[in-house]
Amino acid sequence: MTDRKKLLRALDGEVQKVPPIWMMRQAGRYLPEYRATRAEAGDFLSLCYNSDLAAEVTLQPIRRYGFDAAILFADILLVPQALGADLWFVAGEGPRLSTITSMDDFNKLVPADAIHDHLAPVYETVRILSRELPRETALIGFAGAPWTVATYMIAGRGTPDQGPAHSLMAENPEVFDALMERLTDATITYLSMQIDAGAETVKLFDSWAGSLKGEAFQKYALAPAKRIISELKARHPGIPIIAFPREAGDGYIGFAKKTGADCVALDNSVTPEWAAMNVQVDGCVQGNLASRHMVTGGQALIDDTRRIVDAFSAGPHIFNLGHGITPDADPANVQLMIDTVREGAYAES
Ligand code: CP3
Repeated sequence: MTDRKKLLRALDGEVQKVPPIWMMRQAGRYLPEYRATRAEAGDFLSLCYNSDLAAEVTLQPIRRYGFDAAILFADILLVPQALGADLWFVAGEGPRLSTITSMDDFNKLVPADAIHDHLAPVYETVRILSRELPRETALIGFAGAPWTVATYMIAGRGTPDQGPAHSLMAENPEVFDALMERLTDATITYLSMQIDAGAETVKLFDSWAGSLKGEAFQKYALAPAKRIISELKARHPGIPIIAFPREAGDGYIGFAKKTGADCVALDNSVTPEWAAMNVQVDGCVQGNLASRHMVTGGQALIDDTRRIVDAFSAGPHIFNLGHGITPDADPANVQLMIDTVREGAYAES
């Protein structure tokens, strides 16, 4: 027997009969207790910057379900705000930011190492959590990857095809590269502070990696991830890192080796059988049940959950969804997924 947490053992490369499990957006609007705490905080950003309440919502899904990991409650867009961008959320629509389209806009941002006063409440949330989490629960810190964060900073909002960011990359590469560089530096220093505060692993969310192809994928998804990971590992020897180049498709192949990531998180556009052969051969993978099962439930949820556990059973695996759980999910379906992973036929054999 070992005291090392299940999630950290998977990141070490250990094959476990029952994989550790957590869920992207596990603290969120599908939970009535989240909605109550969010109402108490006032709005989403006030919740992110209120360390006690952010820690409280992080703990809610741990209390309800006993997940093997908690993920810090914050948002990838706090970094742009700390760099000097205006940020607000429009109810029912999503985030809005001041835009970066010229060198003048870029020059208004603060240096990467000047973000910490603004982000101090996030580090305090991590410290509270590392005291209050159950001893078997791992604490995951996170940041957005530079490309994904840049797409929001350039467009000033979420975009279906990341068009404005691709245009800036083509038409004004000097500004685009300067922004990518600033975000890469800020991500390193931000994640480093989370690790100092008690995060036991960190996850890099590149939600829009799928719109980078060929050379652009190498330059703006792989290369920044590699620099962030090698710098974090130099500063914090042994820290495990999860990378999520969402919808990278073939780009998933070799991603862990090329970047130094300990685990690659998979969306549900790839089958678990394909990913076991092409991605898990290099180490731990995380994923990849379709989020819609948390809305629809039933036998299809059980079947797909078993299929994923089975496909990844020969290597290190962390069970998760392929993307975040949606607000219309039924909390009972989350329990059904967990029961299927933990008590299904696979646990008995
Ligand atoms: O996973 C977790 O539980 C940790 C907390 C977390 C949030 N956002 C909380 C959140 C994490 C890791 C994120 C990451 C994030 N934020 C990403 C990358 C992952 C992904 O989903 O692709 C992105 C692109 C964002 C930016 C963002 N934040 C958007 C586009 C939105 C609006 C969309 C929506 O779901 O409403 C948010 C808001 C947000 N971030 C919510 C939560 C729980 C919902 C806000 C609310 O309570 O109203």
